[in-house]
Amino acid sequence: MQKLRIKGRYSLNGELNISGSKNAALPIMAACLLCSEEVEIDNIPALRDINTMIRLITYMGVKISKTSDNTVKINAHRIKEKFAPYDLVKTMRASILVLGPLLARFGEAVVSLPGGCAIGARPVNLHIEGLKAMGAEIDLKNGYIHAKARRLKGCEFSFNPVSVTGTANLMMAACLAEGATILNNCAKEPEIVNLGEFLISMGAKINGLGSDHILIEGVDKLEATACRVIPDRIEAATFLIAALITKSNLKLNGALAEHLREPINLLEEAGASISIAQEFIEVTSLNEIIPVSFTTSPYPGIPTDIQAQLMVLNVLAQGESSIEETIFENRFMHVLELQRMGANIKLQSNIAKIKGVSQLQSAQVMATDLRASAALVLAALVANGETEIDRIYHIDRGYENIDKKLSLIGAQVERIES
Ligand code: UD1
Repeated sequence: MQKLRIKGRYSLNGELNISGSKNAALPIMAACLLCSEEVEIDNIPALRDINTMIRLITYMGVKISKTSDNTVKINAHRIKEKFAPYDLVKTMRASILVLGPLLARFGEAVVSLPGGCAIGARPVNLHIEGLKAMGAEIDLKNGYIHAKARRLKGCEFSFNPVSVTGTANLMMAACLAEGATILNNCAKEPEIVNLGEFLISMGAKINGLGSDHILIEGVDKLEATACRVIPDRIEAATFLIAALITKSNLKLNGALAEHLREPINLLEEAGASISIAQEFIEVTSLNEIIPVSFTTSPYPGIPTDIQAQLMVLNVLAQGESSIEETIFENRFMHVLELQRMGANIKLQSNIAKIKGVSQLQSAQVMATDLRASAALVLAALVANGETEIDRIYHIDRGYENIDKKLSLIGAQVERIES
């Protein structure tokens, strides 16, 4: 196992390239199962979760070749296994994204139930109910979802609550269903729009992307295409926060401000000067941090995926703030570790009350999930002394070369063996 060792209190400066979005790349790769022709995908980030998806679809018989560092060709012409084993699904919940495509194209799929997760219960009932509404027969046996359908049929289905991978799964399945499907209360995340546009470029008939209601008219088959994964808005937001807490100037090439409107407004309220261009976002922050209270919500609100990182900002702000987490019930695992570094945070069910402190101290800490580990990296960048973060496989699931990127802009970061 590897650790990150970070020496704090170095200011950051310079520019870096924002990688492709993990949460857009994963459903796009799963969507390749819908098509028997070759598809080319560009801007795929080099991440553990992407490797897990590659292992999963390769196991099913998909042929994948790399044409450059971040471009792959995926050919799902021949699929021998319509099966997603527990060993792979347990390491990445997004493996559930193969369920809709397999069932829609082959009429059968056996996919492990993802089970528990560090940040909450995370059920998949909506994925299952939606596919049943399309006529699938679904049995849950021995921890697996066994799904069958002669051909899925269009239906009307409403999500409650809004689910990102739920929307992706049903949208993909509906592309090859017979007739029209209406999905209500859909996720509006840019990653869903990226997936939908990819499906449209394969010949799918989809309307309403980015809105609450998505309409899909099923087609008989999808065809070869090429697509580009959008930049990772969560990675970009994490580096914007890094600039604020270290009082630095950073230019994030490729970051898209239109996907980050509310987070950018919040960071400006916290004292950042942010300039926006088509190809980059630049942030400068020399001021004291103003505390910013917020509530997480589905897009376009403040994403739960940056709640932990924004907590570090508030921990260092001059004054008090509160953070309400509304998406996942147990997403405060980072609080205990931040407290060990000197943060003043009190938890009252799903609300964190924070009093800013002037300095964090280094400590040995442990990453517990992907975004919690990003928060610990941020805290380490400003702590007195040397912080060691253990179990960084969590961060490698979703941040491409985080240690190299941080070193490039002046942070003192080493990756070491535990
Ligand atoms: C996706 C993202 C994840 C992000 C989350 C919320 C990917 C691969 N992952 O996760 O990074 O943190 O959106 O923005 O894109 N729910 C149900 N039943 C279901 C499905 C979900 O009750 O069948 C609930 C969940 O417990 C949660 C809420 O819906 O409370 C939102 O979860 P969802 O949007 O499904 O999260 P994911 O798609 O798993």
